[in-house]
Amino acid sequence: MIGDVVVMEPAQYQSWMSGGPVTGSLAQNGQTLFQQLGCSTCHRSDVQGRGPNLTGVFGKPVQLEDGRTVTADENYVRESILNPTAKVVSGFKPIMPVFQGQVSEEQLTALVAYVKSLNPAPAGAAGTPELKPAGVAPQNPKE
Ligand code: HEC
Repeated sequence: MIGDVVVMEPAQYQSWMSGGPVTGSLAQNGQTLFQQLGCSTCHRSDVQGRGPNLTGVFGKPVQLEDGRTVTADENYVRESILNPTAKVVSGFKPIMPVFQGQVSEEQLTALVAYVKSLNPAPAGAAGTPELKPAGVAPQNPKE
């Protein structure tokens, strides 16, 4: 059986090699990628980083630099990662690198799931009461 590409971080790989579980929900994988790809260096949850704090962004209106307001839905988050300059968040510089071609579809899906999981109370997510992936550090306790 070929054709199934599983992206694992080294620790996961080690665990997998030693017969341990391949851990993690999609959102957890996303969190790992968020660190690996350096997203976390700009998108911080404590102090104001160079990029917007992503906590609670999902499902909310986002004011753009050009005056438009869009809803941070799945498509918006995907586009924001693949082609950040398409919609620049008001008050921020378009310094985010383009990740088009840098991340696979699987990775993108995981990243979007992670951004979603940062919502304390996701809009319209009835039926998914336990969204917080285990092992995710508390985000922005001050909020
Ligand atoms: C060099 C710093 C930098 C890095 C690295 C970076 N970003 Fe960004 N990001 C920004 C800035 C600045 C903005 C706001 C301006 C814009 O929309 O382009 C932004 C915007 C976003 C938005 C829209 C946020 C909102 O409030 O609407 C998302 C989602 C996002 N980034 C996700 C990611 C992900 C996922 C990664 C890693 C794959 C990443 N970013 C890496 C700086 C960065």
